[in-house]
Amino acid sequence: MLITCLLLHTEGELDEEHWGLHFAACAGKQQSPIDIQRKKAVHNVQLLQLELSGYSQPLQGDFTMTNNGHSVQIDLPPTLSISRGLPRPYTAVQMHLHWGGLDLETSGSEHTLDGMRYVAELHIVHYNSADYSSFEEAKDKPNGLAVLAFLYVEGHLENTYYSEFISKLAKIRFAGQSTKLTSLDVQAMLPENLSHFYRYQGSLTTPPCSESVTWTVFDSPIILSHAQIGLLENTLLDWHNRTLRNDYRHAQPLHGRVVEASFQARPRQGTGDALHFKTEVSSKPPANWQAELPRVAPGSQ
Ligand SMILES: *[C@@H]1O[C@H](CO)[C@@H](O)[C@H](O)[C@H]1NC(C)=O
Ligand SMILES: *[C@@H]1O[C@H](CO)[C@@H](O)[C@H](O)[C@H]1NC(C)=O
Ligand SMILES: [Zn+2]
Repeated sequence: MLITCLLLHTEGELDEEHWGLHFAACAGKQQSPIDIQRKKAVHNVQLLQLELSGYSQPLQGDFTMTNNGHSVQIDLPPTLSISRGLPRPYTAVQMHLHWGGLDLETSGSEHTLDGMRYVAELHIVHYNSADYSSFEEAKDKPNGLAVLAFLYVEGHLENTYYSEFISKLAKIRFAGQSTKLTSLDVQAMLPENLSHFYRYQGSLTTPPCSESVTWTVFDSPIILSHAQIGLLENTLLDWHNRTLRNDYRHAQPLHGRVVEASFQARPRQGTGDALHFKTEVSSKPPANWQAELPRVAPGSQ
């Protein structure tokens, strides 16, 4: 979860060990991201699959896509919402990505699964529209936000649902630039099967680190091709005209929190039971997909 923080880019880099000195919540006990240990996740049969309203139709219009100097953000219309599956309805605000790329094999997801850091991570940010009138009001309040998090892996085929998004990155090379997407199909950009996920209470992953976020981290990854990941990692520049590789925050201590799972989660080995490929050959994963997983590098804790 990344919110443009003027303080950080005007005052220069404030590294994450020092966040707590300036923003008390960053030293709190419900911080994000975390490392999700599959075998410790508690299966909770009450966790319902989220009902995403407005996500299923491709939308036509003008959807602003911005290089905010930290990430690429797409503003989402309020017709998108989480209508069921959480105690309150949550309305979509924006989505953005976290990626790595500092050198050839650096992954950039914020959440890690069993210590593995994925290539990149998508955050779809929603605010609690039953109790609060705007994202601004909700962002630091209890149960104010719900973020859906998706992890990316590298596959062989171009994910054509990302083609317009990726090609438009070149138009927002410089920090502060925006462009428009003429159509948006968020659901198509997600894994097909959303029934397997993890749930925990956490925070924004950048200052002020407010502990306002109900996190849903999906177990099925999104697949992008090597070329698409390369464009994501190498196109945008930050406020200093350096290639934008938005750092992830390291995993935070659980402090007794329990991560729940909507399914019986087991450490993944051998067969890719939960991998669902949505590219053209969706019925048949690339034969050597396992060989791609070294891009999922061991997380540095
Ligand atoms: C999603 O995957 C789960 C577990 O493999 C399966 O039980 C469920 O039927 C799938 N749902 C859909 C809509 O394919
Ligand atoms: C970044 O590059 C652009 C285009 O060359 C230039 O206009 C701008 O001043 C540069 N910004 C910085 C901070 O160097
Ligand atoms: Zn984020």
